[in-house]
Amino acid sequence: MYLHGTSKVNGNGHLEIGGVDSVSLAKKYGTPLYVYDIALIRERARSFRDTFEKLNIKAQVAYASKAFSTVAMVQLVEEEGLSLDVVSGGELYTALSAGFPADRIHFHGNNKSYEELEMAIKNNIGCIVVDNFYELSLLEQVCLDNQVKVPILLRVTPGVEAHTHDYITTGQEDSKFGFDLQNGQADTAIEQALASTAFNVLGIHSHIGSQIFETTGFVLAAEKMFKKMKEWKDKHGFIPTVLNLGGGFGIRYTHEDDPIPLSQYVEAIIEEVKKHSKELDMDIPEIWIEPGRSIVGDAGTTLYSIGSNKEVPNIRKYLSVDGGMTDNIRPALYQAKYEAVLANRVNDGNEETVSIAGKCCESGDMLIWDLDLPKATSDDILAVFCTGAYGYSMSNNYNRIPRPPVVFVENGEDHLVVKRESFDDIVRLDMPLKAKVKK
Ligand SMILES: Cc1ncc(COP(=O)(O)O)c(C=O)c1O
Repeated sequence: MYLHGTSKVNGNGHLEIGGVDSVSLAKKYGTPLYVYDIALIRERARSFRDTFEKLNIKAQVAYASKAFSTVAMVQLVEEEGLSLDVVSGGELYTALSAGFPADRIHFHGNNKSYEELEMAIKNNIGCIVVDNFYELSLLEQVCLDNQVKVPILLRVTPGVEAHTHDYITTGQEDSKFGFDLQNGQADTAIEQALASTAFNVLGIHSHIGSQIFETTGFVLAAEKMFKKMKEWKDKHGFIPTVLNLGGGFGIRYTHEDDPIPLSQYVEAIIEEVKKHSKELDMDIPEIWIEPGRSIVGDAGTTLYSIGSNKEVPNIRKYLSVDGGMTDNIRPALYQAKYEAVLANRVNDGNEETVSIAGKCCESGDMLIWDLDLPKATSDDILAVFCTGAYGYSMSNNYNRIPRPPVVFVENGEDHLVVKRESFDDIVRLDMPLKAKVKK
């Protein structure tokens, strides 16, 4: 069993997170329940930030709020001095509602609307990451209508695709995001952007994938981007002040994952950027990165109550919990794997192999296949580790199941940051059939 951050087994044999007994949390708030280890989030944020500071490199570490966005989380990000990446009007609204400094917000997305862009501009956010030609002209129009000039980055697809230990360099990347570096799209985009009075072009951005365990992909992407920057310097005299290399730094979900320290990614990126800047005889650009999963992923644990079970003789035993694909869609969406323990009996020896099923009316609603556990009953609480990223943020109301609450724990204290949805919340936006409206 691998325990993340401040998690440990206390004297009662219970899982404790942030100095708080998880069984008492389950009693106090009910299940399912998302629990976040705040000390671990701070540690992750600091390890990115401190590495840049130690090496004296100008940088912005922008937390990718798509991984987990709530007002309290955004405020925590602000406390830790990071910047923030948002990808929708909703994430931007959350950030602004949390009082996050607008000049440290970066706006992503491949289909931002006029209204979203205007909202960003009117709030003076730090930068818009332009994804495609449609957006380039839409944003120009928004700027003209509002008589402003905005700082932008151009998102490029560098032809490096990284996932876990594999990275592939492709001639032309088949991606819905960004201007292609190889086929001339990025060249046309920079020409258009530089020619417009609406834009202050800060530099370029790339994001090569997720759950990446090696530095090679980032190094390759940087190399390709510098090659293009040299061409643009020679042709347009354009020297970027910002190079954004995206997120994707891997974490340990299960024993199959073997992540490297976060500082190693940063060090490798800095070394590469320094090398190429020197070759091009230009100042080292400000380096921006966008970690999401690696800030919050292993800080999150979901607590469930175990309910029914079903034994299929000689095949498997299913244990059902009171949540599932509504609070964690990742296993159903892309076969994501997790580890779990009985939070109230962590020290008990494993006795059987079970598969953890969610409660949704969908055969694919399985959280974990083939998990070794002590013999569990409906008195037990299951703690699934590493659910902090893309769990709550992708949660949904399938089967009209209310979303669970979110609790932050730190230094022995728990703090509710998102309330549990009620059935009233579920029908809140519904309107009755016309004929049933009371006169
Ligand atoms: C542009 C961009 N930046 C950052 C991220 C964050 O990635 P991760 O959570 O894997 O660090 C993503 C994830 O999809 C992304 O698309």
